[in-house]
Formats: sequence, structure tokens, C-alpha cells
Amino acid sequence: MRKYIIAGNWKMNNDLGASKLLITNLLNGLVDKKSTEKRIIVSPSFVNLYPVNEWVKDSVIEVAAQNMHFEQSGAFTGEVSASMLKSIGIKTVIIGHSERRTFFNETDELLAKKVETAIQNELEVIFCFGEQLADRKSENHFNVVEAQLSKALFQLKNSAWNQIVLAYEPVWAIGTGETASPEQAQEMHLFIRNLIAKNYSQELANTISILYGGSMKASNAKELLSNLDVDGGLIGGAALNSEEFLTIYNSI
Ligand code: PGA
Repeated sequence: MRKYIIAGNWKMNNDLGASKLLITNLLNGLVDKKSTEKRIIVSPSFVNLYPVNEWVKDSVIEVAAQNMHFEQSGAFTGEVSASMLKSIGIKTVIIGHSERRTFFNETDELLAKKVETAIQNELEVIFCFGEQLADRKSENHFNVVEAQLSKALFQLKNSAWNQIVLAYEPVWAIGTGETASPEQAQEMHLFIRNLIAKNYSQELANTISILYGGSMKASNAKELLSNLDVDGGLIGGAALNSEEFLTIYNSI
């Protein structure tokens, strides 16, 4: 079901102590004690997934992994499988983040495999995609986004889509302080929803949460989130500060 989602991607930040402090501050500051029509998710590093999930277990805060391998198990030193995530109670995984694409050479083909494995393992996927600055400047951004979604997701069956959350993250806005304007975000989100409608159905498209990511913060969240097709945010830098993150969550 389409819900508002505010997800914090902690990236390679927060050791055990810092994770505990941030979670404590979030729990203390949260007004919502019960799950409503909006969701709040944090995504710590692999090593802190288990304790963080324990600390939030009686609250509305959910926990997602930042990545996983596409194989079920085997000789893949340093990697983490879907079943390992499941076995510690993790239900959601971020796949396709632009930093994974850029620094770890993750291709659309590889991401398609990861999505497939996550779906098979009944994990929810927050799938990230978005154009580079050069694509936007050459007005190629719609084509790039369509290609990314076609290659990684449009092979999925209708039924798999209840495990998919989309996160449109223009690469030029990630960690740069530069944000897509509310108009640019809405235009792209509507384009994405229409693509799902074209490849599946309008009915299905209307159920998909499409998050925006890229320098979303307390000061611009309300404007971005007030757009009809922006169903939440994937937040990096501003998710490391409990007040900022909760302000974003509360602005829905
Ligand atoms: P940012 O990161 O909010 O720091 O731009 C967003 C993301 O990478 O998901």
C-alpha cells in the first residue's frame, strides 16, 4: 500500500556508540508511538543492524540494510546474504544506491539480480536510481531513468511490486546541498508513476511509494513532500541528526 516513508540512509557513518545515541534521541523525540499511515526507517551499517533493530523493536522505527549480495550463500568473502538479513529480523533492503553504482561498479544487470533475490526472500526493496548532472543538462534524464527502471525492475511480476519502494535520487543532488526543485521532483515522480502504469497498470502505479532523495533536509522537506507524487524521502546527511530527521518526518 502506498504510504509516506521517511528513510534515513546512514551510509558508512555511526559506530556502535553513535548508533545508540542517535536511536535514543530518535525514540525520545518521536511523537508517534504507533504506526500510522507513514513509516520511519533507519539504515545503519551491517555491523549495527542487529543492535539497532533490537533497540527499536517496541517502536514505530523500522530498520533497513544498505545492501546485500545476489547469491543466497557461498564463497563471497565480505558479503552479506538476504537470508542473513532475514535471520536477524531485517525486512527491508536498499538496492542500487548511486554510491554502490559509482564506487562498487554495480550495473543495472547486477541490480536486477539483487532485486530478484530480495523478492524471493520476501524482503522489501527500496530501489534507488537517478540521472547524473550531464544527463540532466543534455535533457536525457527521462531516458536514463526509464532505462534504469526497465533493466532492473520491469521484468518483475505484478505481485512482486508490493515489495518495491522507489527512490528517485538525482546524482547531482546527493550530498551536494543542491536539491531538485519541487517542480523537478514532481515532474520526474509523475513520469515514473506513468511508466509503471504503462508497463503494468494505473491501479498498480497508484500503490507504489516513490521517495525523493538528494539533499532533503528539514528546511526543504515540506515543500518537496507536498507534491502529489512525492511519497517520502531517502535522506543521507540530514538523517544523522535526530532533530533534522524528525523534523522531516513530522513535516508530513
Ligand atoms: P543526502 O543523501 O541526503 O546526503 O544528499 C541522500 C542519499 O544518498 O540517499
